[in-house]
Amino acid sequence: MFSAAAALHPLASFAADRKSSPNPHAAHALMIGDWGDDRHLDSQSSVARAMASYTRQHHLKHDALFLLGDNFYGEFPGGVDCPRFRTDFEEMYPKDVFNCPAYAVPGNHDYEARPEIKLHSQMAYSARGNTRWTEPAQWYSYKFPLHKPVATVIALDSNMPFADGKLAHGFTHVMTEEQRQQQLEWLKLELAKPLTTPFRIVIAHHPVFSNGPHGDHKVLIADWEPLLREHKVHLYLAGHDHDLQHLEFEGHPTSFFLSGGGGADLYDERDEVVQRGPFFNKVHGFSHLEATDKLLTLRHVDTDGNVIHAFTKSPDGTASILA
Ligand SMILES: [Fe+2]
Repeated sequence: MFSAAAALHPLASFAADRKSSPNPHAAHALMIGDWGDDRHLDSQSSVARAMASYTRQHHLKHDALFLLGDNFYGEFPGGVDCPRFRTDFEEMYPKDVFNCPAYAVPGNHDYEARPEIKLHSQMAYSARGNTRWTEPAQWYSYKFPLHKPVATVIALDSNMPFADGKLAHGFTHVMTEEQRQQQLEWLKLELAKPLTTPFRIVIAHHPVFSNGPHGDHKVLIADWEPLLREHKVHLYLAGHDHDLQHLEFEGHPTSFFLSGGGGADLYDERDEVVQRGPFFNKVHGFSHLEATDKLLTLRHVDTDGNVIHAFTKSPDGTASILA
């Protein structure tokens, strides 16, 4: 579909430490995907600790957490009353560090019935209140940050009823075909609204394009990719492949950014595809969105707090890697 990875050029005018020195006066969000894996609590904890120390080191005050799906793997006893809400979320990412809404989208593991469908429990937990967990519906939109917003964020459910002609990954619980159509119509209406912020971001669990083992998603390419292009969406944020990625395509207005290193076991890069970039790393970590009305800055950060990749996105769609 696309001829080649975009040629990206570092902006020489950036200060040398721009890559690793966040602007404390901007809006900030940290994001994690594929994080709530009770079989790999050590990995999840190390990412959570890195998020907290990075926050303290740079004196950041977060405006949001983005939870990119596969929020809980495994059994989830008690549904809305499951103690894992407390241990694996509220305490793992403590409020004294992350005093902000945590916007969640559903991953494929959140559709599992263990014993109740975890997505339903997460929406009920959000609706109950007295929590940062924010998941008012399967698909919804919000402004980031809430005060003086610079980005309009559209959060989607990417658990398509059929992927490649069969039930996605063998999971019995996915969205219905009717829901897929409803969401698509809603998405078109949302994107057709006059943009009141400099930036527009779409978030979902499944990547449209990925160099990881799940690869490119045929349904999302058919349903969503033309809309991202038509409406010049600045960022598409996802998880699902357990790695950190950034993909650019020649002439495409959207930067595709994947943060799936939140705790679950890591995945290898596919070796049968033509290498696309500019970035792939099989590593645990998290990602950082810094936003002003002039510029978005995206960073991938490993568990040692090292910024291993960073780039900026301008309102006109220009992406520039920070060397
Ligand atoms: Fe997933």
